[in-house]
Amino acid sequence: MSALLVASPQHSARVVCLPGDCIGPEVMAVAQRVLREVAPDLELEEHVFGAAAIRATGTSLPDETLAACRRAAAVLKAPIGDPEFDAADVRPEQGMLQLRAELDVYANLRPAIRGDVDLLLVRELVGGLYFGARGVREDGTVFDTCEYHPAQVERIARRGFQLARERGGRLTSVDKANVLETSRLWRRVVAEVGQEYPDVEVDDMLVDNAAMQLASDPAQFDVIVTENMFGDILSDLAAAMTGGLGLAPSASLGDGGPGIFEPVHGSAPDIAGQGIANPAAMLRSTALMLEYAFGRSDEARALEAAVDAALEERPTQDLGGDATTTEFADAVVGTLS
Ligand code: NAD
Ligand code: IPM
Ligand code: MN
Repeated sequence: MSALLVASPQHSARVVCLPGDCIGPEVMAVAQRVLREVAPDLELEEHVFGAAAIRATGTSLPDETLAACRRAAAVLKAPIGDPEFDAADVRPEQGMLQLRAELDVYANLRPAIRGDVDLLLVRELVGGLYFGARGVREDGTVFDTCEYHPAQVERIARRGFQLARERGGRLTSVDKANVLETSRLWRRVVAEVGQEYPDVEVDDMLVDNAAMQLASDPAQFDVIVTENMFGDILSDLAAAMTGGLGLAPSASLGDGGPGIFEPVHGSAPDIAGQGIANPAAMLRSTALMLEYAFGRSDEARALEAAVDAALEERPTQDLGGDATTTEFADAVVGTLS
């Protein structure tokens, strides 16, 4: 994992923890317990965010929470989202997009590893369909627009090439250039940036084919770089191909400020409160935080190894086992201590 280190390690020891909604607080509690074991010097502070924040303050990302995140060395985030707000005007997900944009964490790294599969999906996180103009016209038509500025494509392409250079030297850029203007821009900019990385083998792949290739032969990929929406969908697919959503972590990085470390999965309202959520993705995100935000590779590796061991010994229900969240956490802590 050290080969992936691209952000400069932070010197402050402050970690802002956002426990989120539904299974969020259940998996966050495990991450905090494990951090106290593996990196007891880190200062963990908790702030309200998501549906819990809407209930308490009327907004998903309160000013005080945002200010704390800006001051932190890293943001450790559990999933947000609650069916109670599915039809509401103020939604938990809005705060999440705002936080990503405010911290300008444009590069979302989503590794997927299992057996002979070892791929890194690099998703552009602060542009495209998620952030374009949206609204309703007089005739009732509703629209969301996909927009990219060349500079937005350039910086994520460069990050993709750098990561590919530090890993297996291969980059697959995924787009829909046979249909979309933004994808034609994407493809052109990736080719231009690629001139600076002659040692990286780059190819373009259309997103529909990429979904098929991921499902049928995920081992062919090294680094995938793609825009926001395609990356959202393909990263769930990559997670499913490598053991399920309960295992998949992510790191969202900008150019030096605090990163956000969170699972790929959501708040899983269907299993909330039952004590059966798999905390592995949250713990692997915690390991990514130790590595990227603090440069603490030894602790990160120890945590990853302890998670791998717990997955063998005490798998949770989503993996066909019967361990509860706490029993899984006990196994991890048992290996670490
Ligand atoms: P989800 O990822 O929450 O759940 C999909 C399925 O996977 C469910 O059956 C769930 O039980 C299972 N699952 C997910 N994580 C698991 C875990 N750790 N252990 C065991 N099983 C797990 O997706 P969804 O149901 O489409 O979304 C629910 C809510 O989560 C929505 O409000 C959505 O907006 C939100 N969401 C938040 C984030 C985030 O905060 N990063 C990410 C995705 C979705
Ligand atoms: C993710 C989630 C979010 C996204 C939602 C909850 C806004 O699905 O982190 O993958 O689409 O980015
Ligand atoms: Mn998603």
